[in-house]
Amino acid sequence: MGMTLGLETTCDETSAAVVADGVRVCSTVVRSQIDLHAKYGGVVPEIAARAHLEILNAVIARAMEQAGVAAEELDGVGVANCPGLIGCLLVGVAAAKALAFAWEKPLVGVNHVHAHLYAIRLQNSAGLKVQPPTDLWPALGLVISGGHTSMYWMDGFAQLCRIGSTIDDAVGEAFDKVAQILQLGYPGGPLVEQLARSGDPAAIQFPTSLLGRESLDFSFSGLKTAVLYHVNGSKGIQRDASALSRQALADVAASFQKTAAEVLAAKCRRALEHRSAKALLVGGGVSANEAIRGKLLALGQEMGLKVFLPAPEFCTDNAAMIAGLAAHELQSGHQHGLDLPVFATV
Ligand code: KG4
Ligand code: ZN
Repeated sequence: MGMTLGLETTCDETSAAVVADGVRVCSTVVRSQIDLHAKYGGVVPEIAARAHLEILNAVIARAMEQAGVAAEELDGVGVANCPGLIGCLLVGVAAAKALAFAWEKPLVGVNHVHAHLYAIRLQNSAGLKVQPPTDLWPALGLVISGGHTSMYWMDGFAQLCRIGSTIDDAVGEAFDKVAQILQLGYPGGPLVEQLARSGDPAAIQFPTSLLGRESLDFSFSGLKTAVLYHVNGSKGIQRDASALSRQALADVAASFQKTAAEVLAAKCRRALEHRSAKALLVGGGVSANEAIRGKLLALGQEMGLKVFLPAPEFCTDNAAMIAGLAAHELQSGHQHGLDLPVFATV
C-alpha cells in the first residue's frame, strides 16, 4: 500500500487526512461548522455545502503539510460519496476528482457509514493501538452516530449487508435531543455523558423499545419522549429543566444513557442469537461514550466474541476513516472513474 489522501464532506465537518498503509494516520484535519448552524438548531444544507467549498482546499493543504507528503507520493485519493447531504457530497467528490485527475492518481469513493466501522483499524500518530487480528469475519457491525443507527453482517470491511436500522431517531440524535431538553447545548452526546457521571443510572426507569420480538431495527423516539415528559411534565410544556436540581438532571442523563446502552446491547445480542460471529465491530460518534463502550465490551465477554471499538478520536466524523477504507479498496483492486456519482441515501 502507501499513502492515501481521504476527504470527508458528507455533513457539517470538513475533513482531510493522510493515512499510511490503510492504518497509520499521518495527519487528520477536521473543521467543524457547528458555529455556523447553531443558531438554526440543526444543519442547514445550503450553508454547509458553501462552507465546505470555502475551506476544503485549505483543509487539504494542511493535511498534506502535516503529513509531510507531496502529491507524487500519494497512491490514491479517497472520498466519501454517500450517504449525506447532496450539496455537501458534491463538493468533496468534485475536489477528489480534480485532485485525482491533476495528480494522475486513482480515485475511490467509499460509503461514510461503512467507513465508521473501518475506524477500528486506525492507529493514532503514536501508533500504539494494537491491530485487530485478520480473522474477524464474519462479524457483526454496529454503527451508532448522529445520522445512523444500523447493524450489519460483515464478511469484510467492504462486504456489508444491513440487517437492521432505526425506524425513527438515530441514537446520537436522541442524545442531542436529550441534551436540548436538559438545556446542555450542542452537540449533546459528550455533554450528556459528562452530566451522567454524577447521576444514578437506576434512578428512573425509562421505557426500552425493542419493537417486535424478532426485530433487529431500533427505535429511540419513545425514549426521547419519555425523557421530555419526565423533565417538562406529561404534556411536555408544564415546566423546563431549570425547575430540576443539578442532581435530578444528572439522574435523568444517567438513566437515559443506561437505557440507550441496554437497547443497543439487546439488539446486538438478538442478532448474535440468530447467527454467530467472530467479532463485534462498533463505530460512529456515540461509540466514544464510555458507558456504551463498557456495555458492549461486557456483551462480548458474555457471548464469547471480541469487541473492537475505534480510538476515541476516530469515533466521530473524520477523513482518516475515509482514507483508510479507500486504501483497503485500492488494495483490493477497486477504483472509480471520474464519473463517480454521489448518493444522498443508500
Ligand atoms: O459519527 P458522527 O460524528 O456523525 C454522524 O455521522 O452522524 O456522530 C455524531 C453524534 C452526535 O449525535 C453526538 O452527540 C454523538 O455522536 N456523540 C456522542 C458522544 N460523542 C459524540 N454521544 C454520546 N456520547 C458521546 N461521548
Ligand atoms: Zn458519521
